[in-house]
Amino acid sequence: MKDAFGIPQSLLVLGGTSEIALATARRLVARRTRTVWLAGRPSPALDRAAERLRDLGAEVRTVAFDALDPESHEAALGKVFAEGDIDMVLLAFGVLGDQAHDEREPLNAVRVAQTNYTGAVSAGLISARALQAQGHGSLVVLSSVAGERARRANFIYGSSKAGLDAFAQGLGDALHGTGVHVMVVRPGFVRSRMTEGMAEAPLATTPEAVATAIELGLRRRSETVWVPGALRVVMSALRHLPRGVFRRLPV
Ligand SMILES: NC(=O)c1ccc[n+]([C@@H]2O[C@H](COP(=O)([O-])OP(=O)(O)OC[C@H]3O[C@@H](n4cnc5c(N)ncnc54)[C@H](OP(=O)(O)O)[C@@H]3O)[C@@H](O)[C@H]2O)c1
Repeated sequence: MKDAFGIPQSLLVLGGTSEIALATARRLVARRTRTVWLAGRPSPALDRAAERLRDLGAEVRTVAFDALDPESHEAALGKVFAEGDIDMVLLAFGVLGDQAHDEREPLNAVRVAQTNYTGAVSAGLISARALQAQGHGSLVVLSSVAGERARRANFIYGSSKAGLDAFAQGLGDALHGTGVHVMVVRPGFVRSRMTEGMAEAPLATTPEAVATAIELGLRRRSETVWVPGALRVVMSALRHLPRGVFRRLPV
């Protein structure tokens, strides 16, 4: 169960090597979280991530999970929930893709969409059902400001995040009043493996800052979290710019 401040005792990370997710797990383990499941594609990186969290004192287990194989999700996630209650599910998997390349190779673009959107629809619904059966818990979804308004430079990724974001909002409404809380997290540019080597966007932030915002959001039981917070105002303005003006912006 979560404590009175909303900090989970048990955490399931979907996308167990995600830098943002691991910064969040470290932060929560430093508070009260004792059990962590890292679900991800089996790899030495996943094992190393588990080992590092064990070094911090958590009991950590890994489970094979591939967002691109939704037919396996029921069994993979069922195994985790069968072992005991999960107070928080962090849906963190995602791929950025390579926009220019993926425009030329539609099957690559489809993989971005299937990972970020349809993979999340499947894993999100299964997690939500399990949390609802427990009667408590949070589903925290890593969306992105990229989903707020499609940009020429990354509309394949952006549209997949727009779908994910809308899905998570609707799921949150569907679960309102059930004891299950859905929190949509919209970071801007985060310095992580995903953005390595890319030119930084304004208001760039870190995985640790996203982790801090997630902890605060859990304590407040927020439904939406922007990281950094200033992006809420910036994106609200950008969202309403006329197309012709938005198109000419260097974003
Ligand atoms: N970095 C940013 O600027 C930024 C900004 C806003 C939102 N986000 C979102 O935040 C989330 C975490 O990103 P991050 O910055 O922590 O990047 P990251 O370190 O690259 O993490 C991405 C994660 O997705 C996993 N993944 C990719 N394809 C998968 C699949 N088919 N099945 C299972 N797992 C898969 C990766 O696992 P493998 O180890 O198996 O590849 C990795 O754990 C993503 O959803 C991302 O879109 C990131």
